[in-house]
Amino acid sequence: MASVPTLKLANGKEIPQIGLGTWQSQPGEVEKAVSYALKDAGYRHIDCAFAYGNEKEVGDGIKQSGVPREEIFITSKIWGTWHNRVEEQLKITLERLGTDYLDLLLVHWPIAMNPEGNHPFFPMLPTGKRDILYDWELRKTWEQFEAVYEKGLVKAIGVSNCSQLKLEEEILPFAKIKPMVNQLEIHPYNPQHNLVKWLKSQDIVVEAFSPLGSTDAPLLKDDVITEIANKLGVSPAEVLIGWGVGNGIVVLPKSVNPDRISSNFRFAKLDSSDMEKINGLAAAGKQKRLIKPPWSMVKLGFEDWFQVDP
Ligand SMILES: NC(=O)c1ccc[n+]([C@@H]2O[C@H](COP(=O)([O-])OP(=O)(O)OC[C@H]3O[C@@H](n4cnc5c(N)ncnc54)[C@H](OP(=O)(O)O)[C@@H]3O)[C@@H](O)[C@H]2O)c1
Repeated sequence: MASVPTLKLANGKEIPQIGLGTWQSQPGEVEKAVSYALKDAGYRHIDCAFAYGNEKEVGDGIKQSGVPREEIFITSKIWGTWHNRVEEQLKITLERLGTDYLDLLLVHWPIAMNPEGNHPFFPMLPTGKRDILYDWELRKTWEQFEAVYEKGLVKAIGVSNCSQLKLEEEILPFAKIKPMVNQLEIHPYNPQHNLVKWLKSQDIVVEAFSPLGSTDAPLLKDDVITEIANKLGVSPAEVLIGWGVGNGIVVLPKSVNPDRISSNFRFAKLDSSDMEKINGLAAAGKQKRLIKPPWSMVKLGFEDWFQVDP
């Protein structure tokens, strides 16, 4: 069975460099996918989120796999309508996943939404904009993350979708415990080289979500990626995942298809010329962010994402 390298978090814990994504994995298919990934393909890392609405089935898949809990790295995330109730949401997640601790808990987006709005996940204002709590200070969310870490409910804490600006202005100056991970949209069309370099200098491990380009994996059809795949006799997915692993980040491909789950656990070892070619694709004109929720006026601070919504 294949195995993947690990990276070390700032607190010394190891994180496997390939993890199974579970966003848009439907009830009825995700249980089998998770069980297959763990038992048959060799995965030891599952990326979950409360907001994906499938954590109960993911938990069933973990149980069904028979793989001991302590061998699996499980991540979940706190959704925007729960920034004022981190431990409460975490406890629901733990129950659904059938475990008494997480290996990593992330702030899903650095944006708090009205917990008493007109929808539990996506509350909207009468204007049609999302019901965002602009006055909420992220440090208050982070303090609760530090508390659940200190209680031992989670073995590591981190953020997701956080720019350097967000971290420098709203978390790092107040943190007793620094975020250990930042999970970001990273693939060759949105490589975020500057942010990745800075995060590494801060000892914050980078995780790549949507590594294949998200729904229907559009990057698998990129001409440079397919050319390298053909040259090496591997699949385009192996090239994309190999690019992430080679750049020293964690990669989180999602699939519910057994063959693709297995092949996504393999990765091409790319030489420096192929790495450079892929590293340069965005700058050569292919820059494109694929996951871009309508966060309205929130200042996210990404250099490739200019939030305009007057
Ligand atoms: N923190 C965040 O805000 C955030 C945002 C987005 C995603 N994520 C995490 O990152 C994970 C991955 O991102 P993602 O789900 O957006 O996209 P992704 O992993 O880049 O791509 C998933 C898509 O590619 C297909 N696919 C997977 N492997 C394939 C292969 N070898 N050949 C052909 N098609 C393939 C999947 O379909 P099949 O299932 O049918 O194979 C699915 O349509 C998520 O599941 C989630 O855990 C986090």
